[in-house]
Amino acid sequence: MSAPESDGAQPRRTFVKEAAAVALGGVATLVPVATGMFVWLDPLRKEGDAGEAGFIKITSLDALPNDSIPRKFTVLADHRDAWTKTMNVPVGAIYLKRTGERQVIAMQCICPHAGCFLEYRPGKHEFFCPCHNSTFAADGSINDPKSPSPRPMDELAVEVRGNEVWVKYQNFQPGHREKIPMA
Ligand code: FES
Repeated sequence: MSAPESDGAQPRRTFVKEAAAVALGGVATLVPVATGMFVWLDPLRKEGDAGEAGFIKITSLDALPNDSIPRKFTVLADHRDAWTKTMNVPVGAIYLKRTGERQVIAMQCICPHAGCFLEYRPGKHEFFCPCHNSTFAADGSINDPKSPSPRPMDELAVEVRGNEVWVKYQNFQPGHREKIPMA
């Protein structure tokens, strides 16, 4: 059997309820704010994934014979998010073509028409797109009069640093006449 409540019990209970509601509301507000601050201050988020100005080291000049034949390379980069860092994750593929002692051309492997993967056919000296039986010349230009592609293969910026080949790896939106970088 419970004891009868005194006259002051009701206001005291209301005060406790209101105080608890205020405290819980404060916690509910502070947790997301604190989480946001932690993520914002995390030093990993301040570093780019692809090094200086988006350039990624792809290979060495020694690995590229000076014969103007395009060769395919997987692009590896470090993937970072707020909490984890994963080293050398494949992020795409490109073709490199050495055209001189220290000259290299880089081209995206992705067809600018609808995004299918292009394959190089050494016997024909051309790139073939299996999605629409279309072809590009070895320099990436459109060589198929019936090609549905609105632009040549996407060329990428290259820097030869000493014996290393660095490429500014980018994806571009398919289906446009202009090269529009993916967001
Ligand atoms: S996707 Fe390559 S030509 Fe259409």
